[in-house]
Amino acid sequence: MTTSQLSLFLNISIFLTFCQLCCTEKRNTNILMIVVDDLRHLSDETINLPNLKRLADEGANFKNAFAQQALCAPSRNSMLTGRRPDTLRLYDFYSYWRHTVGNFTTLPQFFKENGYDTYSIGKVFHPGISSNFTDDYPYSWSEYPYHPPTEKYKDAAVCKDKETGRLHKNLLCPVNVEDQPEGTLPDLQSLEHAVNILTTRNSSRPFLLAVGFYKPHIPIKFPEQYLERVPISRVKPQRHPYMSADIPLVSWHPWSDVRRRDDIARLNISFPLGTMPLDWSIKIRQSYYAAATYIDDLIGELISYIDRRNTIVVLTSDHGWSLGENGLWAKYSNFDVALKVPLIFSAPGISSKNIHTPVELIDIFPTLVDLSGLSHNIPKCDVKDKSTLCFEGKSLKSLMTQDFKEFGNNFALSQYPRPSVYPQKNSDKPRLKDIRIMGYSIRTKRYRYTEWVLFNNTIFTIDWNKLYGLELYDHFVDPDESNNLYLVHKYKNIKQYLSRLLRSHVK
Ligand SMILES: *[C@@H]1O[C@H](CO)[C@@H](O)[C@H](O)[C@H]1NC(C)=O
Ligand SMILES: *[C@@H]1O[C@H](CO)[C@@H](O)[C@H](O)[C@H]1NC(C)=O
Ligand SMILES: *[C@@H]1O[C@H](CO)[C@@H](O)[C@H](O)[C@H]1NC(C)=O
Ligand SMILES: *[C@@H]1O[C@H](CO)[C@@H](O)[C@H](O)[C@H]1NC(C)=O
Ligand SMILES: *[C@@H]1O[C@H](CO)[C@@H](O)[C@H](O)[C@H]1NC(C)=O
Repeated sequence: MTTSQLSLFLNISIFLTFCQLCCTEKRNTNILMIVVDDLRHLSDETINLPNLKRLADEGANFKNAFAQQALCAPSRNSMLTGRRPDTLRLYDFYSYWRHTVGNFTTLPQFFKENGYDTYSIGKVFHPGISSNFTDDYPYSWSEYPYHPPTEKYKDAAVCKDKETGRLHKNLLCPVNVEDQPEGTLPDLQSLEHAVNILTTRNSSRPFLLAVGFYKPHIPIKFPEQYLERVPISRVKPQRHPYMSADIPLVSWHPWSDVRRRDDIARLNISFPLGTMPLDWSIKIRQSYYAAATYIDDLIGELISYIDRRNTIVVLTSDHGWSLGENGLWAKYSNFDVALKVPLIFSAPGISSKNIHTPVELIDIFPTLVDLSGLSHNIPKCDVKDKSTLCFEGKSLKSLMTQDFKEFGNNFALSQYPRPSVYPQKNSDKPRLKDIRIMGYSIRTKRYRYTEWVLFNNTIFTIDWNKLYGLELYDHFVDPDESNNLYLVHKYKNIKQYLSRLLRSHVK
């Protein structure tokens, strides 16, 4: 390069930089929201998810982010309205907040009403009654939400038995994509649709694109080549495969949807307290990790289509997933593995940072509003607040951008309902009419503390004097929550403190 070429190059670069600055200033930042179904927080040593890792390394990576309830519809509605399950009165799949509690503004609706084009692809709201069979269209979305056509085969018998060649409805379902109905899979179709929107839309307005990937939700169906990325010889078993006797029975759930699949049903695991055989535990863990790797690839592909200089990327999941810890599988509980989710914000102006402060999924809505730079005066919700727009969570922006010491006393609240103390068929997913007990759980940086209490499902009250179980776990010494300390004398004061804190924050 000659000197004059160099100076021309520099001039052009400066001009381009100036242009970007001027244009991004005029236009609001785009938002890409990625919600992975049932993706638990996977620690770096468990499995290599290169695209998630890159995103986390570039942005703010929350290591202690928790769902408000470990079940799809309650968690998603809570996250997308920024309200707790107790406010929405939704603990199952069968009510729509606009009809039952209030005409609350959702996260995408807020951006839509502020000049954004908002798109929903795949599973963002939980489909069905809880989003009025429209994924809350037209309130939340500019276009009718996209559902991949092959999602209709989600429970079809498409998992081939290697020996007999017969097709089953298995839990573990590595597939040859070409042999699948229509020769593809739902998440591949969602990715294609998302890329299509990103490459063809009129970009004169900013966008909020929400992409909800369906896997690793069960059945654990994924392109079979991903099994090779997770050799079974390297898959470790869960550390505490049985629930210890000091953990109250009300915290157990029989993971019926896992038991019901053809391959697991054949194992005749006794109901409701039987546990998974060790060889199957390892196989399930392998397939879960392989399915997560598959989604990680799709996320990498999706992100390659956006302009990172003017787009906020937020990635999370609706809740975690037990992989055999304490003998449990799936979600449906108040344990860390069922509640903890990945939460990553990558955005212009956010630098690389790991954050250990406990945060909640209801914090995403205020955080995105804050990061987008839309001016607003949205208040915190009052206890009896019926206003359509207020926040129960808090913006995490200052945690991400400022260098002050993390708040040591932040905590996350979660809850899970039960129909009975002794586990029964509907303990996983009790309908509102059957709920008798609510487990409220508080997570600080060091502890998880849970009280299971009497719950009235018609007037939505709780009786703290009617207790069905207490749990206290010290994450400094017991990250697996296998040792319930609520009766241990040494922890008496901390137990009292956490009980007061929990009770004062439950409405
Ligand atoms: C609910 O809010 C939407 C959007 O602001 C509005 O169009 C609609 O009329 C409201 N519905 C009721 C019943 O207030
Ligand atoms: C929910 O769907 C029903 C049936 O389509 C419709 O009548 C009702 O207005 C919808 N609710 C809201 C809040 O839009
Ligand atoms: C994009 O939208 C803007 C504003 O609505 C409009 O003026 C412009 O003509 C559109 N561009 C294309 C290529 O359709
Ligand atoms: C499960 O029970 C069925 C019927 O009782 C029996 O045929 C089968 O061998 C059992 N399988 C195992 C793994 O024990
Ligand atoms: C809930 O409270 C109402 C009103 O006090 C009462 O009639 C009902 O029996 C209670 N439900 C349960 C399950 O205790």
